[in-house]
This record gives sequence, C-alpha cells and structure tokens, in this order.
Amino acid sequence: MCGIVGVISKQLDCNQKIRYGLKKLEYRGYDSVGYAYILDNKIIINKCKGTVENLYEKYPNLKEFNIGIGHTRWATTGKADNKNAHPHLSFHKKIALVHNGIIDNYNKIKSFLTKNGYKFKSDTDSEVVANLIEYYYLKNNNIMESLKLSSQILIGNYAVAILNIDEPDRIYFYKRKSPLVIGVSNDGLFLASDSLAFDKYCSDFIDIHDDRFGYITKDNAYVFSNKGIVDVKSYKNENKSEDNELGHYPFHMIKEIEEIPSKIEKLLDVYYKDNNYNFTNNLLECIKNSDYIIFVGCGTSYNAERILSRLTDQINKPTLTFIASEWSYYPVYFGKNPLFVFLSQSGETMDVIKCIDIVKEKGFKSLLITNSEASTLAKKADFVLPLYSGREIAVASTKAYVTMITVYLLLIGAYQNDASIIDEIKEAITAIKDIIARKDEIYQIALKIKKKKNVFFLGRGYDYDMALEASLKLKEITYIHSEAIAGGELKHGPIALIEKGVPVFCFFSDKKTYHALLNNVNEVKSRGAKVFNIVNESLKTNDEQFIIKDLPLRVSMLSKIVFAFYLAYFVSYQKGLNVDKPRNLAKSVTVE
Ligand code: AGP
Repeated sequence: MCGIVGVISKQLDCNQKIRYGLKKLEYRGYDSVGYAYILDNKIIINKCKGTVENLYEKYPNLKEFNIGIGHTRWATTGKADNKNAHPHLSFHKKIALVHNGIIDNYNKIKSFLTKNGYKFKSDTDSEVVANLIEYYYLKNNNIMESLKLSSQILIGNYAVAILNIDEPDRIYFYKRKSPLVIGVSNDGLFLASDSLAFDKYCSDFIDIHDDRFGYITKDNAYVFSNKGIVDVKSYKNENKSEDNELGHYPFHMIKEIEEIPSKIEKLLDVYYKDNNYNFTNNLLECIKNSDYIIFVGCGTSYNAERILSRLTDQINKPTLTFIASEWSYYPVYFGKNPLFVFLSQSGETMDVIKCIDIVKEKGFKSLLITNSEASTLAKKADFVLPLYSGREIAVASTKAYVTMITVYLLLIGAYQNDASIIDEIKEAITAIKDIIARKDEIYQIALKIKKKKNVFFLGRGYDYDMALEASLKLKEITYIHSEAIAGGELKHGPIALIEKGVPVFCFFSDKKTYHALLNNVNEVKSRGAKVFNIVNESLKTNDEQFIIKDLPLRVSMLSKIVFAFYLAYFVSYQKGLNVDKPRNLAKSVTVE
C-alpha cells in the first residue's frame, strides 16, 4: 500500500502542495519516496530511498511548478531503493507514472515489452505499467485510449497518476480496486490515495469508482468508464487539517490515545440522541432475522471483533470470528441467513475487501464498522456504522479499537432496548480519564521492560482477547517479541518459554476467572517471571499491579486496553523509535 498524489494548479505552487501531500500520505508507506514535474517541456524526477524528509534534504527543490505527481512507497515488487522508488519514467521518456497496487501478470507483460525493444531500470511492476501505456501511446498518440487498452491487459489492482510530456495541462489517472480520490479547490485540482493529502487545500473531493479513468486539469475533472464520460459525486472533505496536526504531541499515537474519551463521547452523541438509540430499524431487523453473526477483520480489527463476538452472546445469537486473510481463501458459511460484520478502520484493507466480495456474491448481508465512510468497503456493505473518530494517523490503531467496541455496545443496547449500557460506557470514560492522568506510572513500568527480548500477556475470556491486542501493540511499535497466552493454555506448552526475568502482564477483569488466573500468575512466578497485573480495584493481587476502577465486565476492556496502548507507546518512545511509522508496516494494507 503506497500513497500517490497529483497536483495541477493555476499558480506555480505545486512543489509545496506535493510535499504536503506526501507527508500526509507517509502513513501508507515510507520506505522510499519521489515526485515528478513538468518544467520547460521536460519531465524532472526526484526520488530516493527513505522518507519525505530525506527526499527534500537530498533535493531541496527551490523551483516551483504548476503540475506534478508524487509517491510514498511500501515496497511490494522490488526492494526499497532508489531505482525502485516512484515515479517511473517510461523508456522513451514520454510519461512519468506513480502507482499504488500490485500487478499480478507484470512479468509476462515485461517479457512482451522487452521483445519490443523496451529496457527496464527497476524491478517493479509499476515501471511495466508505465512502459505498457507508452507502448500503446506511441502507436495511437492517445493516452486515454492507451489507458483503456492497458486496462484490458493488466491483471491486479492499481491506482495510477500519469504525466504526459506532450500534454502538460493535465494529469491522467486510472483506478482499479486501489483507492483514489480527486480534490477540488479554487486554485486547481488534486489526485490522491486519500483525501488527507489535500485536507488543507480542498473542502470537497470527488470519489472515483473502480475501472474509472480520465484526467484532471487546473479547472476540471473528466471521469470515464469504458462506456464514456460518467457523472461523479462530490463529498465534503471531513478532514479538517487542524485535526490531523500533532499540536503539542511528539507523535500521533499518544494524541490518538488521549482522544479516546472524547471519541467515545462523540459516539454517545451520535448513536444515543435525546435518550433514544439512533440505529436504523433495517439494521436491527437484519440482526433479528440473522441466524449467525460472523465477524471478519485483520490485526487490531480482528482483535476487536473477538470482543464483539463475545458481546454477541448477550443477544443469544450464535457467533464466530475469522481472520480475513484466512477466510478469503477458506470461506465457510453457517446458517441460512448469517450477518457478516466487517471491522476495518481504513475501509481499504484488501484482505477484507476480498471477503466482502465473496459474501455479496453469496447474497448474505453485511455490516461494516469503519472509520472511513467513503472507503471501498463502505461502498460495498449493506449497512455501515461509522466510528466518527477522526483520522487515525499512527500506524498502530488505538482509538479505532476502542470506538469499534463502543459502537457495537451501543448497537446491542439498541437491539435490547436497554439504556443501562449508556451509564456503563460513561463509567468507562471516567476510568479511561483516570488512566490518562496516571500515565507516568505506566511510563515507569515501560522503563523496566524496554530492554527485554520477550514479553507475555495473559488473560482469560475478555482479558485474553485484550491480551491479544496488547501484545500486537507492543510488538508492532517496539519490535520486542510478544505473545498473548490464554491463561489455561500456559501449561499446554507456552510455559516452556517462561524464564527468569521475563515480563508477564496479566489482565484481571472477571471474578469468575480470578482464582484460575492467580494460579497462572503463580505458575509463571515460580519459574522466575516478573509479573505485572492490570487489575480491577475489587480484584487486587499481591504482585506489582496497576489498579483500575471497577467496571461492568462488558465495558472493562475499554479502559484496560488504554494501559496497554500507553505501555507500548512509552517503550517505543524510550527506544527512540518512530512510533507512528514502525518499520515494515503501513497504515492501510491495500494489498493482499
Ligand atoms: C493495528 O495496530 C495494525 N496497524 C493493523 O493490524 C490494522 O489493525 C490492520 O491492518 C487492519 O486495518 P483496518 O482496521 O484498517 O482494516
């Protein structure tokens, strides 16, 4: 998943706009970066391995220009290095191209082009796309026609933006399954993988559907399908740029952790207006008529869906959870009328898109819980419950995990017509604020584990589900190996990993499992583990512990997980790592 941006302007100001857009899209990939522009009838390309900062250090480009494209890369085909960085210039130097996606049949096309005299400078599939389009263009002298012909050959998903040296008044694009939107402003137009890239320049953006292509000029957008020009729908750009700024925070992650209370309050405002739940009857009816509720997601969203699945027991519906990338290859179905619930912060996760396409093909209903209403998944789902959490920029998901669970708690309250959940959620907000106020205690705990090689998290029931998320958070931003273990499973193998000094964090939320978990804690302590317990006030232990206000079990994870978010954040911060942009990762995984 990479970030692409294109800008065409009435002023000579595209250098700064592309730089701004690249910075905003870095969350999509940051192992190499570049931009291209047309000046004095030449295509100039500046690109390098590294981040946006590295690029502008290397090329402190003082020239201004009025048309350009840019790209931040998360390497898929071809290593992260200068030659594989985008933009790619076609062999005969007619076009420059940036690409987000994966071309499955690029090798075959590369052989065909090589036989036709093309030579390649990179190992990427993207350079193949550039040369294929140029190949057709040299025959028909028409980029739009060349885009159409190329789309009939290319297999895979891609969003491309293209500069054509012969037409310096427009930027061409093609979109197939990878995100691409058009931004509109008085000064000119933008293309980007995400409206975030032009949040401070455009109040409106145009959504581009699949297999659409065309071009933008400084005044207009022209969008086509194979059948001809198509109407397009514009949206208000909800991303107010100040919301996406760091403010006084060192990283977005801690800002987003500390936004959690206000984001939960926002959900109460939206989904519980004037003491009435605000969910459509169609959705509640769909839940009522479903004989199974099946959850599908990835990463943190998968960890959240485990909580949602457990909460579903409260409405007496059979429920299952699946990792999207597993289910998409091994789909299994249950019942005659299952409701599939997809969780995706970005709404662009390819593994989940593949699953919803299968579900739609089978004719089953789908609910999406997402932070991105204009996303690919949102267009496909029968029902969408937005998180309204504001942009989540840190790669490590925090506020979205908590608001996904909160939205579902409200949905259950609506389904049961039970307002008691509202007060429980408000109690959770208070508990979270208390944890935020005590974050220095967590900082001290982080100091004790930052040099460790392995860290374990224990729990049972909801606490085990939470341990999975706590473990993912720690490993993805501190690079410390971590594992979540169901307490009862310890003795069936994982306890072999416990040795002197290894940190073990244990979550205690449920009196039902309290004694069993205490036994687990003793099992690891007797083998030398250093135990830290995260406990309800009423479930104190004799070990080093972080005590959290008692909450009803079904909202307890909303607060305890904030401890884990801070723990991971402080360890990463103390290790001097790039907390918001951990190595090898990207925020939106738009490739398989
Ligand atoms: C979360 O911390 C991770 N960065 C990652 O696991 C993420 O949750 C996963 O890629 C799913 O993303 P989505 O919610 O946007 O679908």
